[in-house]
Amino acid sequence: MSSLFSKTISLGKELKISDSEFRDLRDFIYAQCGIYIADNRKYLLENRLANRLKKLSLKDFGEYYYYLQYDSGKGQELSKLFEVITTNETSFYRNPPQLKVFQENILADVIQEQRKKGLKSLRIWSAGCSTGEEPYTLAMILSEVLKGEIASWDIKITANDLSARVLDSARKGVYSDYSLRTTPKEIVQKYFDEDGKNFRIKSELKRMVSFGQINLKDKSHLKRVERSDIVFCRNVIIYFDDDMKKQVISAFYDNLHPGGYLIIGHSESLHNISRTFKPIHYPGAIIYQKEA
Ligand SMILES: C[S@@+](CC[C@H](N)C(=O)[O-])C[C@H]1O[C@@H](n2cnc3c(N)ncnc32)[C@H](O)[C@@H]1O
Repeated sequence: MSSLFSKTISLGKELKISDSEFRDLRDFIYAQCGIYIADNRKYLLENRLANRLKKLSLKDFGEYYYYLQYDSGKGQELSKLFEVITTNETSFYRNPPQLKVFQENILADVIQEQRKKGLKSLRIWSAGCSTGEEPYTLAMILSEVLKGEIASWDIKITANDLSARVLDSARKGVYSDYSLRTTPKEIVQKYFDEDGKNFRIKSELKRMVSFGQINLKDKSHLKRVERSDIVFCRNVIIYFDDDMKKQVISAFYDNLHPGGYLIIGHSESLHNISRTFKPIHYPGAIIYQKEA
Protein backbone atom coordinates (compact mmCIF):
# COMPACT_ATOMS: atom_id res chain seq x y z
CA MET A 1 0.00 0.00 0.00
CA SER A 2 1.47 3.44 -0.91
CA SER A 3 1.93 5.87 1.97
CA LEU A 4 -0.42 8.36 0.32
CA PHE A 5 -3.12 5.71 0.09
CA SER A 6 -2.72 4.62 3.73
CA LYS A 7 -2.79 8.27 4.84
CA THR A 8 -6.05 8.85 3.02
CA ILE A 9 -7.57 5.83 4.72
CA SER A 10 -6.41 6.79 8.18
CA LEU A 11 -7.54 10.42 7.76
CA GLY A 12 -10.86 9.24 6.41
CA LYS A 13 -11.23 6.97 9.42
CA GLU A 14 -10.30 9.52 12.07
CA LEU A 15 -12.60 12.18 10.63
CA LYS A 16 -15.85 10.22 10.75
CA ILE A 17 -18.41 11.46 13.27
CA SER A 18 -20.60 8.92 15.07
CA ASP A 19 -24.33 9.52 15.57
CA SER A 20 -23.93 10.19 19.29
CA GLU A 21 -20.96 12.55 18.74
CA PHE A 22 -23.04 14.38 16.16
CA ARG A 23 -25.98 14.74 18.58
CA ASP A 24 -23.70 15.99 21.38
CA LEU A 25 -21.99 18.57 19.17
CA ARG A 26 -25.22 19.63 17.49
CA ASP A 27 -26.90 20.23 20.86
CA PHE A 28 -23.83 22.04 22.17
CA ILE A 29 -23.74 24.36 19.12
CA TYR A 30 -27.45 25.01 19.41
CA ALA A 31 -27.15 25.87 23.11
CA GLN A 32 -24.25 28.23 22.40
CA CYS A 33 -25.52 30.18 19.39
CA GLY A 34 -28.94 28.91 18.26
CA ILE A 35 -27.67 27.48 14.97
CA TYR A 36 -29.51 24.21 14.43
CA ILE A 37 -27.86 21.54 12.30
CA ALA A 38 -30.44 19.04 11.02
CA ASP A 39 -29.67 15.30 10.89
CA ASN A 40 -29.29 15.36 7.11
CA ARG A 41 -26.46 17.90 7.44
CA LYS A 42 -24.22 15.71 9.57
CA TYR A 43 -21.63 15.80 6.78
CA LEU A 44 -21.45 19.57 7.19
CA LEU A 45 -20.32 19.32 10.79
CA GLU A 46 -17.89 16.56 9.91
CA ASN A 47 -16.32 18.58 7.09
CA ARG A 48 -16.18 21.90 8.87
CA LEU A 49 -14.76 20.58 12.15
CA ALA A 50 -12.18 18.23 10.63
CA ASN A 51 -9.49 20.93 10.54
CA ARG A 52 -10.12 21.92 14.15
CA LEU A 53 -9.52 18.32 15.26
CA LYS A 54 -6.30 18.21 13.25
CA LYS A 55 -5.11 21.56 14.65
CA LEU A 56 -5.74 20.41 18.22
CA SER A 57 -4.35 16.90 17.56
CA LEU A 58 -7.56 15.29 18.77
CA LYS A 59 -8.36 11.78 17.67
CA ASP A 60 -12.13 11.97 17.36
CA PHE A 61 -15.17 14.24 17.67
CA GLY A 62 -15.86 12.96 21.18
CA GLU A 63 -12.53 14.39 22.30
CA TYR A 64 -13.39 17.67 20.59
CA TYR A 65 -16.71 17.83 22.45
CA TYR A 66 -14.85 17.23 25.72
CA TYR A 67 -12.26 19.91 24.80
CA LEU A 68 -15.01 22.47 24.17
CA GLN A 69 -16.39 21.89 27.64
CA TYR A 70 -13.40 21.36 29.88
CA ASP A 71 -10.11 22.45 28.29
CA SER A 72 -8.46 25.67 29.45
CA GLY A 73 -8.53 26.78 25.80
CA LYS A 74 -12.30 26.24 25.52
CA GLY A 75 -13.15 29.96 25.27
CA GLN A 76 -10.81 30.49 22.35
CA GLU A 77 -11.99 27.29 20.71
CA LEU A 78 -15.62 28.36 20.98
CA SER A 79 -14.73 31.43 18.95
CA LYS A 80 -13.06 29.21 16.31
CA LEU A 81 -16.10 26.93 16.35
CA PHE A 82 -18.36 29.92 15.61
CA GLU A 83 -16.11 30.89 12.72
CA VAL A 84 -16.26 27.49 11.08
CA ILE A 85 -19.93 26.67 11.58
CA THR A 86 -21.38 29.98 10.38
CA THR A 87 -22.21 30.54 6.73
CA ASN A 88 -21.06 34.04 5.83
CA GLU A 89 -22.22 34.33 2.22
CA THR A 90 -23.08 37.98 1.41
CA SER A 91 -22.54 40.73 -1.16
CA PHE A 92 -23.06 44.46 -1.65
CA TYR A 93 -26.54 45.42 -2.87
CA ARG A 94 -27.83 41.92 -2.13
CA ASN A 95 -31.41 41.55 -3.30
CA PRO A 96 -31.84 44.85 -5.22
CA PRO A 97 -35.70 44.80 -5.33
CA GLN A 98 -35.85 44.65 -1.52
CA LEU A 99 -33.29 47.45 -1.22
CA LYS A 100 -35.28 49.54 -3.69
CA VAL A 101 -38.32 49.25 -1.37
CA PHE A 102 -36.06 50.13 1.56
CA GLN A 103 -34.74 53.23 -0.21
CA GLU A 104 -37.96 54.51 -1.76
CA ASN A 105 -40.55 53.56 0.88
CA ILE A 106 -39.12 52.62 4.24
CA LEU A 107 -36.29 55.10 4.52
CA ALA A 108 -38.42 57.85 3.00
CA ASP A 109 -41.09 57.19 5.65
CA VAL A 110 -38.65 57.07 8.58
CA ILE A 111 -36.95 60.28 7.46
CA GLN A 112 -40.30 62.03 7.06
CA GLU A 113 -41.39 60.90 10.55
CA GLN A 114 -38.15 62.18 12.04
CA ARG A 115 -38.55 65.52 10.30
CA LYS A 116 -42.10 65.83 11.61
CA LYS A 117 -40.71 65.44 15.13
CA GLY A 118 -37.97 67.97 14.40
CA LEU A 119 -35.35 65.24 14.77
CA LYS A 120 -32.45 64.32 12.52
CA SER A 121 -31.27 61.04 13.90
CA LEU A 122 -31.33 57.51 12.47
CA ARG A 123 -30.42 54.22 14.08
CA ILE A 124 -30.16 51.10 11.95
CA TRP A 125 -29.14 47.66 13.19
CA SER A 126 -27.62 45.12 10.82
CA ALA A 127 -27.82 41.89 12.83
CA GLY A 128 -25.70 39.13 11.27
CA CYS A 129 -23.69 41.55 9.12
CA SER A 130 -21.00 39.04 8.05
CA THR A 131 -18.04 40.78 6.32
CA GLY A 132 -19.78 44.17 6.22
CA GLU A 133 -21.31 44.33 2.76
CA GLU A 134 -24.85 44.79 4.14
CA PRO A 135 -24.22 47.68 6.61
CA TYR A 136 -21.95 49.47 4.12
CA THR A 137 -24.65 49.11 1.45
CA LEU A 138 -27.11 50.72 3.88
CA ALA A 139 -24.64 53.57 4.46
CA MET A 140 -24.44 54.09 0.68
CA ILE A 141 -28.23 54.14 0.34
CA LEU A 142 -28.49 56.66 3.18
CA SER A 143 -25.92 58.84 1.43
CA GLU A 144 -27.84 58.59 -1.84
CA VAL A 145 -31.10 59.60 -0.14
CA LEU A 146 -29.87 62.35 2.18
CA LYS A 147 -27.19 63.66 -0.22
CA GLY A 148 -25.55 66.93 0.96
CA GLU A 149 -27.80 67.01 4.01
CA ILE A 150 -26.26 63.86 5.48
CA ALA A 151 -23.61 65.73 7.47
CA SER A 152 -26.33 67.40 9.55
CA TRP A 153 -27.87 64.02 10.52
CA ASP A 154 -26.85 61.91 13.49
CA ILE A 155 -26.57 58.46 11.92
CA LYS A 156 -25.40 55.20 13.39
CA ILE A 157 -25.51 51.78 11.79
CA THR A 158 -24.81 49.10 14.39
CA ALA A 159 -23.44 46.00 12.69
CA ASN A 160 -23.06 42.75 14.62
CA ASP A 161 -22.01 39.21 14.00
CA LEU A 162 -21.11 36.11 15.97
CA SER A 163 -17.87 35.48 14.11
CA ALA A 164 -14.84 37.57 15.09
CA ARG A 165 -13.14 36.70 11.80
CA VAL A 166 -15.84 38.26 9.60
CA LEU A 167 -15.92 41.36 11.81
CA ASP A 168 -12.15 41.86 11.40
CA SER A 169 -12.59 41.71 7.68
CA ALA A 170 -15.60 44.10 7.81
CA ARG A 171 -13.59 46.66 9.77
CA LYS A 172 -10.87 46.61 7.11
CA GLY A 173 -13.45 47.41 4.43
CA VAL A 174 -11.47 46.03 1.48
CA TYR A 175 -13.33 43.91 -1.07
CA SER A 176 -12.79 42.03 -4.31
CA ASP A 177 -14.92 42.71 -7.36
CA TYR A 178 -16.84 39.49 -6.59
CA SER A 179 -18.46 41.20 -3.56
CA LEU A 180 -19.55 44.00 -5.89
CA ARG A 181 -21.20 41.79 -8.49
CA THR A 182 -24.70 43.26 -8.01
CA THR A 183 -23.59 46.82 -7.26
CA PRO A 184 -24.31 49.58 -9.80
CA LYS A 185 -21.07 50.84 -11.44
CA GLU A 186 -21.68 54.48 -10.45
CA ILE A 187 -22.02 53.41 -6.81
CA VAL A 188 -18.67 51.58 -6.96
CA GLN A 189 -17.03 54.68 -8.42
CA LYS A 190 -18.57 56.97 -5.83
CA TYR A 191 -18.02 55.02 -2.60
CA PHE A 192 -14.83 53.00 -3.12
CA ASP A 193 -11.18 53.76 -3.77
CA GLU A 194 -9.33 51.30 -5.98
CA ASP A 195 -6.63 49.43 -4.12
CA GLY A 196 -4.73 47.28 -6.62
CA LYS A 197 -7.24 44.65 -7.73
CA ASN A 198 -9.46 45.42 -4.72
CA PHE A 199 -11.86 48.16 -3.65
CA ARG A 200 -11.59 50.07 -0.39
CA ILE A 201 -14.67 51.62 1.27
CA LYS A 202 -14.38 55.42 1.62
CA SER A 203 -13.84 56.65 5.16
CA GLU A 204 -17.03 58.78 5.26
CA LEU A 205 -19.04 55.55 4.95
CA LYS A 206 -16.88 53.68 7.44
CA ARG A 207 -17.58 56.35 10.03
CA MET A 208 -21.32 55.60 9.88
CA VAL A 209 -20.91 51.92 10.82
CA SER A 210 -19.96 50.49 14.24
CA PHE A 211 -19.02 46.81 14.20
CA GLY A 212 -19.25 44.61 17.27
CA GLN A 213 -19.47 40.95 18.23
CA ILE A 214 -22.90 39.84 19.38
CA ASN A 215 -24.42 36.43 19.90
CA LEU A 216 -28.11 36.58 19.02
CA LYS A 217 -28.65 33.65 21.38
CA ASP A 218 -27.52 35.74 24.33
CA LYS A 219 -30.34 37.89 25.75
CA SER A 220 -27.92 40.10 27.65
CA HIS A 221 -26.08 40.92 24.40
CA LEU A 222 -29.35 41.77 22.67
CA LYS A 223 -30.43 44.12 25.43
CA ARG A 224 -27.23 46.15 25.09
CA VAL A 225 -27.99 47.24 21.52
CA GLU A 226 -29.19 50.82 21.20
CA ARG A 227 -32.85 51.13 20.12
CA SER A 228 -33.35 51.19 16.35
CA ASP A 229 -35.59 52.76 13.73
CA ILE A 230 -34.90 49.89 11.33
CA VAL A 231 -33.53 46.39 11.90
CA PHE A 232 -32.01 44.37 9.08
CA CYS A 233 -31.61 40.68 9.80
CA ARG A 234 -31.36 39.04 6.41
CA ASN A 235 -30.38 35.44 5.76
CA VAL A 236 -29.62 34.76 9.41
CA ILE A 237 -32.73 33.22 11.02
CA ILE A 238 -32.74 30.61 8.27
CA TYR A 239 -30.05 28.83 10.33
CA PHE A 240 -32.14 28.80 13.52
CA ASP A 241 -34.95 26.53 14.73
CA ASP A 242 -38.42 27.98 15.50
CA ASP A 243 -37.72 28.59 19.21
CA MET A 244 -34.59 30.55 18.46
CA LYS A 245 -36.32 32.45 15.64
CA LYS A 246 -39.10 33.46 18.07
CA GLN A 247 -36.60 34.61 20.67
CA VAL A 248 -34.61 36.72 18.19
CA ILE A 249 -37.64 38.26 16.46
CA SER A 250 -39.12 39.20 19.81
CA ALA A 251 -35.82 40.86 20.77
CA PHE A 252 -35.95 42.88 17.54
CA TYR A 253 -39.51 43.89 18.38
CA ASP A 254 -38.44 45.14 21.80
CA ASN A 255 -35.44 46.94 20.30
CA LEU A 256 -37.42 48.83 17.64
CA HIS A 257 -38.95 52.24 18.27
CA PRO A 258 -42.75 52.34 17.79
CA GLY A 259 -43.46 52.42 14.05
CA GLY A 260 -40.01 50.95 13.32
CA TYR A 261 -39.32 48.39 10.59
CA LEU A 262 -37.87 44.88 10.45
CA ILE A 263 -36.38 43.61 7.19
CA ILE A 264 -35.61 39.90 6.91
CA GLY A 265 -34.25 37.83 4.02
CA HIS A 266 -36.22 37.29 0.85
CA SER A 267 -36.62 33.55 1.52
CA GLU A 268 -37.41 33.99 5.22
CA SER A 269 -40.82 34.43 6.82
CA LEU A 270 -42.37 35.27 10.17
CA HIS A 271 -45.21 32.81 9.54
CA ASN A 272 -45.73 30.86 12.78
CA ILE A 273 -42.95 32.88 14.40
CA SER A 274 -44.49 36.22 15.29
CA ARG A 275 -47.85 37.94 15.03
CA THR A 276 -46.73 41.17 16.60
CA PHE A 277 -45.41 42.78 13.42
CA LYS A 278 -47.66 44.08 10.65
CA PRO A 279 -46.52 42.70 7.27
CA ILE A 280 -46.54 45.29 4.50
CA HIS A 281 -46.52 43.89 0.97
CA TYR A 282 -44.54 45.75 -1.69
CA PRO A 283 -43.66 44.50 -5.17
CA GLY A 284 -40.61 42.29 -4.56
CA ALA A 285 -40.54 42.56 -0.76
CA ILE A 286 -42.48 42.06 2.46
CA ILE A 287 -41.46 44.48 5.19
CA TYR A 288 -42.53 44.15 8.84
CA GLN A 289 -43.61 47.12 10.92
CA LYS A 290 -44.02 47.51 14.67
CA GLU A 291 -47.20 49.36 15.62
CA ALA A 292 -46.71 53.10 16.12
C1 LIG B 1 -25.45 34.35 5.39
S1 LIG B 1 -24.80 35.60 6.43
C2 LIG B 1 -25.88 36.95 6.06
C3 LIG B 1 -25.14 38.25 5.87
C4 LIG B 1 -26.02 39.44 5.47
N1 LIG B 1 -27.01 39.72 6.47
C5 LIG B 1 -26.66 39.19 4.14
O1 LIG B 1 -27.86 38.93 4.06
O2 LIG B 1 -25.96 39.24 3.13
C6 LIG B 1 -25.36 35.07 8.05
C7 LIG B 1 -24.55 35.68 9.19
O3 LIG B 1 -25.25 35.46 10.42
C8 LIG B 1 -24.28 35.26 11.44
N2 LIG B 1 -24.86 34.56 12.59
C9 LIG B 1 -25.29 33.28 12.65
N3 LIG B 1 -25.69 32.98 13.90
C10 LIG B 1 -25.51 34.09 14.64
C11 LIG B 1 -25.73 34.41 16.02
N4 LIG B 1 -26.20 33.51 16.89
N5 LIG B 1 -25.43 35.65 16.45
C12 LIG B 1 -24.96 36.58 15.58
N6 LIG B 1 -24.71 36.34 14.28
C13 LIG B 1 -24.99 35.10 13.81
C14 LIG B 1 -23.20 34.45 10.74
O4 LIG B 1 -21.94 34.53 11.39
C15 LIG B 1 -23.18 35.04 9.33
O5 LIG B 1 -22.15 35.98 9.15
